[in-house]
Amino acid sequence: MENQIKIFDTTLRDGEQSPGFSMNQDEKLRLALQLERLKADVIEAGFPIASEGDFRTVRKISQQIKESTVAALCRTTTKDIDRAAEAVEPAAKPRIHTFIATSDIHMEYKLKKNREQVLESAVSAVEYAGKFCDEVEFSAEDASRSDPEFLFEVFTAVIDAGAKVINVPDTVGYALPWEFGELIRSIRENVPNIEQATLSVHCHNDLGVAVANSLMAVRNGAQQIECTINGIGERAGNASLEEIVMAITTRKNNIGKYTNIATDQLMPTSRLLTEITGNEVQLNKAIVGENAFAHEAGIHQHGVLNNPMTYEIMTPESVGLTGNKIVLGKHSGRFALNKKLQKLGYSLGKDELNQVYVKFTNLADEKKIVNEQELLALVSETLPQQ
Ligand code: KIV
Ligand code: ZN
Repeated sequence: MENQIKIFDTTLRDGEQSPGFSMNQDEKLRLALQLERLKADVIEAGFPIASEGDFRTVRKISQQIKESTVAALCRTTTKDIDRAAEAVEPAAKPRIHTFIATSDIHMEYKLKKNREQVLESAVSAVEYAGKFCDEVEFSAEDASRSDPEFLFEVFTAVIDAGAKVINVPDTVGYALPWEFGELIRSIRENVPNIEQATLSVHCHNDLGVAVANSLMAVRNGAQQIECTINGIGERAGNASLEEIVMAITTRKNNIGKYTNIATDQLMPTSRLLTEITGNEVQLNKAIVGENAFAHEAGIHQHGVLNNPMTYEIMTPESVGLTGNKIVLGKHSGRFALNKKLQKLGYSLGKDELNQVYVKFTNLADEKKIVNEQELLALVSETLPQQ
């Protein structure tokens, strides 16, 4: 099996669907161009039937993006598929992504269809979409809560109907990592024509395990991961692209896979999304949070200043930062304080450093974080001769 894991970014579709994250055409286009710089294999640009604006945006993105595949989402009706097909028609690499729910609860309460009808809709949709586009992806919504036997039957039938990618969504973020891994393994074992399609996963984060589920899926044979920048998405979000990519990259010896993502574009992409939506990333968010490469505790600062690998498992440069951050606060020690002072042009003896350090800890107790200006003021007040 190919060792590359394809990264399918759905920030502009599933991510944008969440409250507070909607974007206009220009904003989506800017982000799409950045996703191309990031080398996302697939950019899901929107849900064209949802609105005239979304249709026009997907079409515009399709006209401009040359390297990444551009996907458009649609339900299984011909009206939906027509709209998606027209929207991605100008794309260099178009994909139609059609979906229908396969869990009993969704079929009964939402679709009001029985299994036979859902199977029939799925197959006809894939066949119909195939008339417009070589690459058709099929998603079984709420797959993780579906009867696995029915899921195998649907996937076998849609692959026969021409689906090139079959996607397994954990739509409500219900699966646990070992269950989800097992589901992917069972699909590999029970869908006889599985080798003719790419096996994809799409995990939501309601229990905070979307990334873990995606990685377990990879371990059990998934070849594409659907995810979003900063993990944005419905409710608690989707699996975070940056976390998945850096897990696969940093632990490649364990996972044995790679992605094509330009990891030094992760931070610029994350920041662009923040700038566009106005929603800050939590400070301690893995990879792209402000604190992901920041050190305040004295013991950690001492280690990192001598050898960053003592407390960093990847370099800040590898994700697009210029370096780590040594934050001076009440947990900082003399070693980091002295390094900072040296950077600011001071060369203090032991006693002088001790005097400054005592005042510094008092200030840090009060201010929590001491910035360069405050430090300079503190030195000139403590050591006026300097
Ligand atoms: O979560 C989900 O099931 C989806 C599908 C439409 C892929 O977003
Ligand atoms: Zn989703």
